[in-house]
Amino acid sequence: MDKSSEKYLHGFSSEEQAKLHLQNDILGPHIYEFIRLDQVSRMLEIGCGTGAQMRYVMQNYPQVHITGIDLSAEQLSSARVHLEAETAFTNRYALRQGQGNELPFATASFDCALMVWVLEHVQNPEALIAETHRVIAPGGWLYLTEVFNNSFQHYPQSPALEDFWSKMGEFQEFLGGNGNVGIRLGAMCAKLEHTTLETRAKTLYFDAAFPRQRTEIWNYWIDLTESASRQMIAAGKISSSYWQKVRRELAQLRDDPSSAFYYSFIQCRLQR
Ligand SMILES: C[S@@+](CC[C@H](N)C(=O)[O-])C[C@H]1O[C@@H](n2cnc3c(N)ncnc32)[C@H](O)[C@@H]1O
Repeated sequence: MDKSSEKYLHGFSSEEQAKLHLQNDILGPHIYEFIRLDQVSRMLEIGCGTGAQMRYVMQNYPQVHITGIDLSAEQLSSARVHLEAETAFTNRYALRQGQGNELPFATASFDCALMVWVLEHVQNPEALIAETHRVIAPGGWLYLTEVFNNSFQHYPQSPALEDFWSKMGEFQEFLGGNGNVGIRLGAMCAKLEHTTLETRAKTLYFDAAFPRQRTEIWNYWIDLTESASRQMIAAGKISSSYWQKVRRELAQLRDDPSSAFYYSFIQCRLQR
């Protein structure tokens, strides 16, 4: 089992689990610009977590049946609660507990597979991608969306936040993950059999010209870093007072009418 399964950067509390859905309401429209699901009927999501992507897919693509697999029983029970609450989703999904490196599905079982914010948490992303590729039927699609944390920039400078951001990257590596895995997606996928391979960097840039989106993304960033900070405090990597200073700087950036936010995540799509 991956080290990431035992300790996970953002934790498994119910507060964190509910947040994943709210966060996806902000990022979902950006993520799915690159993902075409109109022709898809049997879809697999590896690392489905609390079901935020499954919910987005079922809301927007009524013909899709989606199977979500995750190694965490806690995440899956939260997914169950969230998805069962929507009667429109009845009979349109399945949830399985399992390891992405050894999928319990026959070769070529799905016409599409999706991974969003998963490879950053695993020790061997290539093995996970290769196993996912195995279960996609010829002509089917693989969609990957991943972090590239070195792309994060902001104005004005914020020394405590910058220090925290680099400590968070080190902590993620300590847990067996990689906060810059996005930049490797194209190279990892190029090794697999494919007819089409495309990548893109999706930049989120919000400054004084986009005040609503800027506030929204800073609030998202506060939530994201706060969940990581809890795990880092519990592991003795930072203190609460250290985090409080970072938190104050983040709030200042959010409330500063001249601030700017810049981040790029990376996406890859491959057709077999
Ligand atoms: C950040 S969450 C992303 C959840 C979901 N994809 C989303 O976008 O909301 C990452 C999830 O991947 C799961 N995970 C990590 N490594 C895995 C593996 N090797 N196999 C299956 N699931 C894994 C974790 O348990 C966690 O639920």
